[in-house]
Amino acid sequence: MPSLPAGIELPQLSPLEICGLAFTLLVLLYLRRRSNPIHSIPTVGPSLPIISYLGAWRYLRNAKALLLEGCSKYEIFKIPLTDQWLVVVSGPKMNDELRKFPDDIMSALEAHKYVLQTEYTLGTTHPDATAKKIIGGPLTRKLPQLMPEVFDEVVASFEDIIPKAGNEWVTVPALETMTDIIGRVTNRAFVGLPFCRDEVLIKTFTGFAKDVMKTKTILSMMPNFLKPIVGPRLPWTSAARRRMASILGATVIERRRQLLEYGFDYEGKPDDYLTWCIEEDLKFRGKGESIDGVMEVISASNFAAIHTSSQSMTHALYYLCAMPECVEPLRKEAEEMIKQHGWTKAAVDGMWKADSFFKEALRLNSAAHLTLYRKVMKPVAFSNGTVIPVGTMVVATTTGTHLSEKLYEDATEFRPFRFSDVRAKGGDDALRQQFHTSSPDYIPFGHGKHACSGRWFAAAEVKAVMAYILLNYDVKLHEGSGRPENLYVGPSIIANPWAKIMFRRRKMPYA
Ligand code: HEM
Repeated sequence: MPSLPAGIELPQLSPLEICGLAFTLLVLLYLRRRSNPIHSIPTVGPSLPIISYLGAWRYLRNAKALLLEGCSKYEIFKIPLTDQWLVVVSGPKMNDELRKFPDDIMSALEAHKYVLQTEYTLGTTHPDATAKKIIGGPLTRKLPQLMPEVFDEVVASFEDIIPKAGNEWVTVPALETMTDIIGRVTNRAFVGLPFCRDEVLIKTFTGFAKDVMKTKTILSMMPNFLKPIVGPRLPWTSAARRRMASILGATVIERRRQLLEYGFDYEGKPDDYLTWCIEEDLKFRGKGESIDGVMEVISASNFAAIHTSSQSMTHALYYLCAMPECVEPLRKEAEEMIKQHGWTKAAVDGMWKADSFFKEALRLNSAAHLTLYRKVMKPVAFSNGTVIPVGTMVVATTTGTHLSEKLYEDATEFRPFRFSDVRAKGGDDALRQQFHTSSPDYIPFGHGKHACSGRWFAAAEVKAVMAYILLNYDVKLHEGSGRPENLYVGPSIIANPWAKIMFRRRKMPYA
């Protein structure tokens, strides 16, 4: 036993004094806890120190149950994560309040920094507003001109990716195949020909989300002081951006040279996504030599676009296979629209049933149980009096909102034409039924100023892919008849990654 230094003696305490000291300590701990407003928010799962880790474990295993329990009892509640409390708001009224807070009080950017460890994954040369600005701006405005190209890439990618077997059935892994197709089609709009057919580039884009997830998962398990040391040494995201630059770099450098030499309005200037990215980078960062900023915007755009849309596509395909009675109405609609408008944006806009099908699939299978991530920057109170301390993460829940019987009749049931039936009746509510429309009771794209700026593109793209499938193929599940089960990991909802589907070229394909 080590002995105390000479001259220092421990006070001799009687058992009564020890009990008194312990009691005082407990009272002090209790008072400290009470003074932190986070502890006034009801907890779902155990809330006491140490055993709250059981709640964090339950959240990882079955976030859905935990969130539904919270939503059934409270307007605002908290659940334990391994490193902090997560405050969840419940119901459309609170969703709307959350989205209305200004950024200096509830910051989406700071929340994304924490959730995605953006400093070491998506990069910080550009604040994330650049991709949002281009996608929500010129890309969305140009959709009518872009759609024929998007359709062209849908056709080319099916030709290349679905094995040819005459009119026989071929089997493919569903999620992987949809990711490859969406990766190609999205990048016809992002980087254009010939790059969107470069296999290494497309694999790098589709793999980038995994690179981000690996990096952020490792970093989120370590204390803050280690992140600046370890973060820059994790190789995956920077290696991916270097690979992108090795393929796109020469074109980016040449286009930037032309913009600098001839200005932003020269005749013959390419009017496409790649050029908009270079222009924004020049405006934001000046004339520097590096193309890192452009690569950051392109990789972040792909991160936002590919997996969300391919998940959405796969969920819808699984429903189509599980409910073959939906094929005919959807096929008929696609045929009519293409006959009327050709392969254009007007055609996909007119596919109300397909629009509803995707909207309903996303209602029940959002990318995650949570959305509208915000970090509290200044002390804030909701209208019901709940005070949230600075530094707390606050979120809304898709699952809690979308499974509410108060908002959706037979909320747990997949009713493919739920939205198109209401839309067909006309009236004030008709436009709100569109797939891309967010509202406090439909939040898979978030809601408010930080809502997904790519949702118009996403809706047009997935409907184009679906129309092409309906008109050219029969589809069925490789095994079984029900819809393949989702995979749930923490807050993420993942379309079954193992299921296979079968395609058979129709005898009289439409296009
Ligand atoms: C069905 C497919 C998609 C889903 C479910 C989806 C969902 C989301 C969600 C939940 C957010 C966060 C909203 C928030 O924080 O409140 C988001 C943000 C974003 N999405 Fe999407 N997304 C999809 C497709 C796309 C596509 C195709 C693009 C690009 C063309 C895109 C670009 C973006 C961008 C740039 C942001 C950031 C907006 C901001 O920070 O303010 N998304 N998306």
